[in-house]
Amino acid sequence: MARTVLVSNRVALPGRQRPGGLAVALRAAVREDAGLWFGWSGRIGNATQLPQRCRDGGVDYLTVGLNEDEAAAYYRDYSNRVLWPLLHSRVDLIDYQQPCSEGYRRVNARFARVLARELRGDDLIWVHDYHLVPLAHELRNLGVSNRIGFFLHVPFPPADLAAVLPRHRELFGCLADYDLVGVQTQADATHLREYLDTHAPVAGPGGAIRRSPRVDAYPVGIDAEAIAAQAALAESTDDVRRLRASLGGRGLAIGVDRLDYSKGLPERLRAFGQHLARHPDLCGQLTYLQIATPSRSEVAEYRHLRAELDALAGHINGAHARPDWTPIRYVNHDYPHRVLTGFYRAARIGLVTPLRDGMNLVAKEYAASQSADDPGVLVLSRFAGAAQQMQAAVLVNPHDGDEVADAIATAARMPLAQRRERWHALWDGLRRDDIVQWRRRYLQDLAECGPRGRALP
Ligand code: G6P
Repeated sequence: MARTVLVSNRVALPGRQRPGGLAVALRAAVREDAGLWFGWSGRIGNATQLPQRCRDGGVDYLTVGLNEDEAAAYYRDYSNRVLWPLLHSRVDLIDYQQPCSEGYRRVNARFARVLARELRGDDLIWVHDYHLVPLAHELRNLGVSNRIGFFLHVPFPPADLAAVLPRHRELFGCLADYDLVGVQTQADATHLREYLDTHAPVAGPGGAIRRSPRVDAYPVGIDAEAIAAQAALAESTDDVRRLRASLGGRGLAIGVDRLDYSKGLPERLRAFGQHLARHPDLCGQLTYLQIATPSRSEVAEYRHLRAELDALAGHINGAHARPDWTPIRYVNHDYPHRVLTGFYRAARIGLVTPLRDGMNLVAKEYAASQSADDPGVLVLSRFAGAAQQMQAAVLVNPHDGDEVADAIATAARMPLAQRRERWHALWDGLRRDDIVQWRRRYLQDLAECGPRGRALP
């Protein structure tokens, strides 16, 4: 049977990382067929460069470290300061420097050299996310003719925005070396096809036609049943019990995000303040818990955002708090996934309002964690990929503070019958389009891609 070889920047090494929904699903993909998972170890330093192997649950894990220059160029600068803002349509935040683009390419080439030595003829190779766009190109240059698929977890912007990137053809032209490119939504697929039609080179040396990859939407799902079971169990954990007890009978609204400018956190905090001003009868009725886990703090925008949120949370609380009630509980810690699902279940409202997001699994996990008898309400940004599938949520424009403020009030006042109706529609969708069908559909489509000759250089 063909092995699945996963490649991603972060590898969910056994026992090292808290498994989130996606890591669990990817691990299951390699476990099903005794596969291999390859990527960066997360370590930085000259002594970390030799590949490290381990085997667990029938899966081989292979990781390599990066030296300081490589990590700076490949991860901090090109992935996080060029590709992340570009793909989230924040071209104003792009900080492009040619050396970092070259460093990114060099790391991809090194990853390809390490991986190529491990490959067997019939391996299906599945590469994940924007850190690794050129990987197939580098593998093809080493003579690898296996089927190679790519999945982009984040959005792909409209073609003319993608073309803002200096030397964008050199980067995105590498997508032609994949057999299948998966994206989260139909809109992303349309943008990418339009980009490839307009900008990617179609003719190689000698006028030979370069094959375009198949591009399709594969919205990532979750293991809805497992999350629901986990959330029900988590109700009895100390963390969840203490949270419930601390609310003093008030309702809870929850947001859980990486501290990232794509998540719309300042806009969300302000909207919560606006909801208190516009709906004074709800003042003191709802406590908003925002868990914002610090992320990529070596990048200035993330540090500035953190300072902005600290000030905003203090400002809004100062304006609206009462001696016995604080409207916003703003927390920068990370919680185990299990505990988070218990928090979701305790929350009457889930606030998921990114300005732009590939999918957003918090939206899905929040809905899956609800009890069928007394479910909470999901307030979801139209600009999260999840909104395409979760039309039964209360959909909002995260840039429109009044609209978000009123949606919070609507959710807080929503009668039980309507909450149940909306939740059932969400739950049916979550079970139907779950994580197992996502990965099987993708891998089956990849396996069915026709054999390819060697790609053009
Ligand atoms: C997003 C990306 C992932 C990335 C994650 C955490 O979800 O799509 O590829 O791993 O953010 O970001 P980090 O930079 O900490 O890996």
